[in-house]
Amino acid sequence: MARRLLILGSTGSIGTQALDIVARDPELELVGLSAERSADALIEQARSFGVDRIALADADAGARAAEAWTDGEVLSGAEGLVRLVVESDADLVLNALVGSAGLGPTVAALGEGIDLALANKESLVVGGELVMALAEGTGAQILPVDSEHSALHQLIAGEGAGGTASIDKLVLTASGGPFRGRSRAELADVSIQDALAHPTWDMGGKITIDSATLMNKGLEVIEAHHLFGIGYDRIDVVVHPQSIVHSMITLCDGAALAHLGYPDMRVPISYALHHPDRVDVPVRALDLTEVGALTFEPVDHEAFPALGLARAAAIAGGTGPCVLNAANEIAVHAFLGERLSFLGIAAVIEGTLERLPAAPVRAFESLYEADREARTIATELVEAWSQRLLH
Ligand SMILES: NC(=O)c1ccc[n+]([C@@H]2O[C@H](COP(=O)([O-])OP(=O)(O)OC[C@H]3O[C@@H](n4cnc5c(N)ncnc54)[C@H](OP(=O)(O)O)[C@@H]3O)[C@@H](O)[C@H]2O)c1
Repeated sequence: MARRLLILGSTGSIGTQALDIVARDPELELVGLSAERSADALIEQARSFGVDRIALADADAGARAAEAWTDGEVLSGAEGLVRLVVESDADLVLNALVGSAGLGPTVAALGEGIDLALANKESLVVGGELVMALAEGTGAQILPVDSEHSALHQLIAGEGAGGTASIDKLVLTASGGPFRGRSRAELADVSIQDALAHPTWDMGGKITIDSATLMNKGLEVIEAHHLFGIGYDRIDVVVHPQSIVHSMITLCDGAALAHLGYPDMRVPISYALHHPDRVDVPVRALDLTEVGALTFEPVDHEAFPALGLARAAAIAGGTGPCVLNAANEIAVHAFLGERLSFLGIAAVIEGTLERLPAAPVRAFESLYEADREARTIATELVEAWSQRLLH
């Protein structure tokens, strides 16, 4: 039977790769698409996939799309995205939005009991406890799309009914990004183009910068903690420049299991869209003789402090990860807008966390409030940094 699929963020890197999977599989029936402001690209996608409901988070872009496309319904604004989800009658929602804007649609899908293929890791970073509790309450499944978490999901599934009981540690691999091997001093003058030149993955702008600072791995540690219910002291990170080993688990009997493959996001996307089945994906089979060597090294925390900041915020708990995420979004945006240096990204996050200590989270409203406050403080710190008032 066809699976009714809604894709949020269909014009982005994950979204377009997901459409490549959908185009090859008549069993996946698209029931809606969304973007922030790429109206023309979204309309083009809706036409070619025969979709008659789309949403644009940006209200002006939504108005433009409604004028240009009269073959179906155009929803707009943050509420439009939520309506697209709750009125979709979808079996599965792929959330491929970027940033904490993904939290609302995540909550909407899980609240309706709709299974969620989750690329938007920020949903779990910001609202992990509440999001997981919501999924448990409605019985909706969360299927990770991040390659490391997809790998872990498959490795843990291999442990059978015992689940995580036999697992000693989760080991997330990190490519190390474009600046692997550089000292802190050598990172002072790096350009946006240097930071966007990821060695192994071709991704959207925000996650590419997060990979360069290693904040992406910090967000992934938090994501793994919530998805798999494993304590932070049992989640390690190791740098693996070839990005062939996507993650590993170590077990109580001394065995270690790893998930390998060439870096291609269509593999984890397909796994999430077809779970529990597997279907063919047009990727090369792994040839280890071609790869030659797999190497591993520890993280250089002095050059890349963002991972440590993320761990500290995660352990502090409450609003800590939400503040971390909001400050990171502001800082990355400022870096991409040439208003902040590369080293300024971690400095702004650290300063925001210092000024806004973690507080308990009672409801989603506490998170929205913390997100707003953190953005205000981080914006001030960006300004201070650009005037060289920070160290
Ligand atoms: N790319 C990867 O290989 C990869 C791998 C693992 C995990 N992820 C995660 O997947 C998520 C998506 O990443 P990506 O690289 O695909 O991002 P991306 O290329 O920047 O695409 C983001 C998508 O979300 C839309 N969008 C952006 N901001 C929005 C907002 N405020 N409200 C509503 N829609 C918004 C964009 O629309 P417009 O086109 O209109 O801007 C676009 O469709 C992120 O959480 C990322 O960490 C990505």
